[in-house]
Amino acid sequence: MAQTLKANCSADLSIKNKKSAFKTHSPEETQELGVRIGCQLSPGDVVALIGDLGAGKTCLTQGIARGAGVGEDQTVNSPSYILINEYAGKIPVYHIDLYRLQQLEDIVALGLEEYLGGDGICVIEWADRMGRLLPENHIQVKITGEDEFTRAIEVVPVSAN
Ligand SMILES: Nc1ncnc2c1ncn2[C@@H]1O[C@H](COP(=O)(O)OP(=O)(O)O)[C@@H](O)[C@H]1O
Ligand SMILES: [Mg+2]
Repeated sequence: MAQTLKANCSADLSIKNKKSAFKTHSPEETQELGVRIGCQLSPGDVVALIGDLGAGKTCLTQGIARGAGVGEDQTVNSPSYILINEYAGKIPVYHIDLYRLQQLEDIVALGLEEYLGGDGICVIEWADRMGRLLPENHIQVKITGEDEFTRAIEVVPVSAN
């Protein structure tokens, strides 16, 4: 898989400049799209993932982390109780999952804000639960399941002005 991932890094996909829409037909394809997205990210970028349980947010994040340079030696899986996993790579990747978030105040209490706009890339599952705490500038990714294996994935760069 590593070779395919590297090859895809040169693919031209300017997700930061314009809205794009994709369809994937397997978890592997979603991961590969994640790699192509991850390749284009830079320090301070925030990726806001939105989609139901089982949509493929974690699957896409696995690719994003690889694309951003996180090595195969690091397992990328949803943080369960602590809400955040850190992966060391070319650029640090902070994988935040707000599925278990009880209240907005917890984001502040856990210090999650410090990761946003920091030196790393933040990938946030259930980002719609952050409300006003989501940075204005972010890359929104909406994943919708169309059938068992088909996912519609919309990538929208959102900016304050
Ligand atoms: N095209 C696809 N892309 C991503 N996941 C898919 C796809 N087709 C089927 N799946 C399955 O959907 C599930 C997605 O799980 P996961 O990434 O953990 O979702 P989420 O993090 O959004 O809850 C996995 O069981 C995966 O095998
Ligand atoms: Mg998940």
